[in-house]
Amino acid sequence: MRDTLEIEFGPIALPEGGSLVIPVLAERGLGAEARRLDAATDGLLTRAMRASRFTGKREETLAIPVPAGLAVDRVLLVGAGKPERLEEPALAAVGGSLVAALDRSGEEQAAVLVEPFAAEGVPPIEPATQVALGARLRAYRFGRYKTRDKPEQLPSLARVTVMCAEPDVARRHFERLAPVAEGVHLARDLVTEPPNVLTPVGFAERCTALAAHGVAVEIFDAERIADIGMRTILAVAQGSAAPPRVVAMRHWGAANPEDAPVAFVGKGITFDSGGLSIKTAGSMEDMKWDMGGAAVVVGLMHALAKRRAPLNVVGLVGLAENMPSGTAQRPGDVVTSLSGQTIEVLNTDAEGRLVLADLLWYVQEVYKPRRLINLATLTGAVIVALGHEHAGLFTNDDDLASRLGAAGRAVGEQVWRLPLAEAYDKELNSEIADVKNISGSRDGGSIIAAQFLQRFVQAGVPWAHLDIAGVTWAKKDSALAPKGGTGFGVRLLDRYVADHLEPREG
Ligand code: BES
Ligand code: MN
Ligand code: ZN
Repeated sequence: MRDTLEIEFGPIALPEGGSLVIPVLAERGLGAEARRLDAATDGLLTRAMRASRFTGKREETLAIPVPAGLAVDRVLLVGAGKPERLEEPALAAVGGSLVAALDRSGEEQAAVLVEPFAAEGVPPIEPATQVALGARLRAYRFGRYKTRDKPEQLPSLARVTVMCAEPDVARRHFERLAPVAEGVHLARDLVTEPPNVLTPVGFAERCTALAAHGVAVEIFDAERIADIGMRTILAVAQGSAAPPRVVAMRHWGAANPEDAPVAFVGKGITFDSGGLSIKTAGSMEDMKWDMGGAAVVVGLMHALAKRRAPLNVVGLVGLAENMPSGTAQRPGDVVTSLSGQTIEVLNTDAEGRLVLADLLWYVQEVYKPRRLINLATLTGAVIVALGHEHAGLFTNDDDLASRLGAAGRAVGEQVWRLPLAEAYDKELNSEIADVKNISGSRDGGSIIAAQFLQRFVQAGVPWAHLDIAGVTWAKKDSALAPKGGTGFGVRLLDRYVADHLEPREG
């Protein structure tokens, strides 16, 4: 079975055998190379397009089997969308669409004709690299527990050759992106693993693999967590037979080891039953992926370490299972957090914010980060607000807001800023403790959760919280991911780091 889709770069040439893939721009049609081919084949491409109303919309595909006059088994036309929208996500979608179209066809090889679209007045980004990235991202399957699939149910495509004007340049650029695609796949693997396998201990175990790329991985067991004083994490975990873990991952890539790191913090609830504030059966079905934030942190650490990003980074994940039992925390319990603030736990299903409170405080105390970004599948309310197309962004820093917004647009993992304000914060004042973990109503639930987190952010620290509850798991296929875990956040944060935190070359 194919593990990773093999990608090669080569000059533009007519392939023999396999599928010849031709991207087509909406409104503008075939590129120069494809027009030459069309002329040489008696208008094969243009006739096929007309006969099937193929116009080159993004993700549209048209297969022409055993084309007369060509030595290939199939020509596949892939829509690239409108010329003015031909940015990275559209180009990556070409790669993703070709994989989606060919992977169940029995085809093993494809060669993509990447036109120098720049000649068509398209922005000069790296089409070949993005097509390759899109193909690699889409060629994902979680087959671990499928023991009875027949050969024809397995993905067939083994190799994609990207044919372009400067294959050596494209190959070099792709080498920088391949670790990021691996990080995305790693995050998808983690969110897809069942909760009986990916317990907190199981998750921590998976983190140790990062050591192969030079990451220092430190695992805190329950005793160590208690010694440090991260009681909120113990409180969430206390109803479960599975002990909690905290994992700190350090990639120290800056020229100066004293440089303050950027910190990424992830919610890692390996299963969220709600605890004694128990969920309904239906709403529990999704709760194995309540460790999506932690998965993104691990995938990102993999990407940054493997591509040797020249900066210091710390990733911190809090791993616990939220279960009801005789030892579970009760609605009404008061817990003293690492920050010293006391928290009245009125709803045990608002557990992610509890775990994050101590992680955020710890990472600020120990690492004094220059930026602090946390990710969490924190609230159902963010799905009500934004659906599945944007993650919720909350931040105390306008620059961070615009930079994360721009990074998200660039890679096609979009975020939408929601407000923070004093008036919301008041809702969290408790009668008997410093803060309570829910407000008195469901209104503005995602904002309330973010306000809770902000109580654990120290003055002057640029901080952002990404509520990824709506984007971590997809119920349908998309251009760059089959349905299931998306890995949303890995590429966004890799881009943010590359564009704004790494020293400029030269
Ligand atoms: N993990 C959930 C949030 C969630 C819901 C993620 C649906 C993905 C899909 C979180 O721990 C939770 O239960 N939040 C509660 C908060 C409430 C009790 C204030 C929620 O959203 O209902
Ligand atoms: Mn919950
Ligand atoms: Zn949760």
